[in-house]
Amino acid sequence: MKIALGCDHGGYTLKEKIKAYLQESGLEFTDFGTMSTDSVDYPDYALAVAEAVAEGKYDRGILVCGTGIGIGIAANKVPGIRAALCNDTFSARASREHNDANILTLGERVVGPGLALDIVKIWLETEFAGGRHQRRIEKIREIEQKYSGRQ
Ligand code: RB5
Repeated sequence: MKIALGCDHGGYTLKEKIKAYLQESGLEFTDFGTMSTDSVDYPDYALAVAEAVAEGKYDRGILVCGTGIGIGIAANKVPGIRAALCNDTFSARASREHNDANILTLGERVVGPGLALDIVKIWLETEFAGGRHQRRIEKIREIEQKYSGRQ
């Protein structure tokens, strides 16, 4: 599994911890930045990771900002992206089983690093359940198509 990793300044410290976890686990990933706590704009990093996942260059993405909210809102503007903000392990599992989430977003200012790494682990290990959930994913695609090209 290839993972695209990104953050803004509010998520930099947690992104570095996630990076260390991925390295220790032998998982393949690319760090799309940011590379320091200097102030940046989260949509730039959301776009880079979301496009890389939507284009199929990476299987999954993980994005971190202060809350996990802004970076997830931005990522979800890219067609084909299902970014899920999961600040607990139940949501992490459900976002994979039910929503086939292809990007996980986390808030560094919301969760501690121990919980965040548990969330990452569960989110990476959980498979999509398919079945009735597939029909709902198709309906999300139809919404994207309905509004594609509109301003
Ligand atoms: C940056 O201060 C902060 O607004 C950002 O990291 C994020 O929380 C936005 O949703």
